Amino acid sequence: MKNILIERRSIRKYDPNYKIPRKELEEMLKETMRAPSSMNMQPTRFFIIESDPYKKKLERILYGNKVQLDTSSAMILMFTDLQKYDLAENIFDLAVKKGLMPKEVRDRQLRNITNMVEDLNLSQTERTGIFDGGIIALQFMLVAKAHGYDTCPIGGFKHDELADVVGIDKKRYKALHIISVGKADEAGYESVRLNINEVAKFL
Ligand SMILES: Cc1cc2nc3c(=O)[nH]c(=O)nc-3n(C[C@H](O)[C@H](O)[C@H](O)COP(=O)(O)O)c2cc1C
Repeated sequence: MKNILIERRSIRKYDPNYKIPRKELEEMLKETMRAPSSMNMQPTRFFIIESDPYKKKLERILYGNKVQLDTSSAMILMFTDLQKYDLAENIFDLAVKKGLMPKEVRDRQLRNITNMVEDLNLSQTERTGIFDGGIIALQFMLVAKAHGYDTCPIGGFKHDELADVVGIDKKRYKALHIISVGKADEAGYESVRLNINEVAKFL
């Protein structure tokens, strides 16, 4: 784990001839989904762009980041679903069925969510979705590293137009980030970090 953390760095050029096998990519996403999320609502949605027509559509809304697009095995588009609470019942029912949650807890959680959703506005839902999205994005990058692949998180794109690339409702799905993934074809470079005393205070 420590090696994965230390060795991960943004890689922007990949072997263009290497495709991550579909089964392995699915396995990586499954491992990524082990990330925690607020109330376990798992609101992040992934679109995996591997084909040239979709890469072409994506190119139109990128600011730079062309080498990642052209050489990666896949560009992972991540959105947060503002209707995430629609799945609450399914998620808790599954937990009860698997014996992981008592029925009373399921009922109480669902009641809490129903009450909370009435008071929530969309920007609050989006904010928790963005938190969850950051956590799961890093999880994906570390999972990829553990599988022998490298990644680059990409924020340089027209956020308002990402949903159009894959034809989904942009009012419901808010763009988070893009992550390129593939077999590294460069060493990348080590980046600096601030000292702990510049960012943390022990009280
Ligand atoms: C939210 C976010 C957006 C980023 N956007 C880009 C980007 O558009 N293009 C790019 O080449 N790198 C992008 N990066 C990568 C950062 O430049 C990189 O993570 C940082 O310099 C630290 O380097 P490291 O990832 O190698 O440790 C982004 C990183 C984050 C977390």
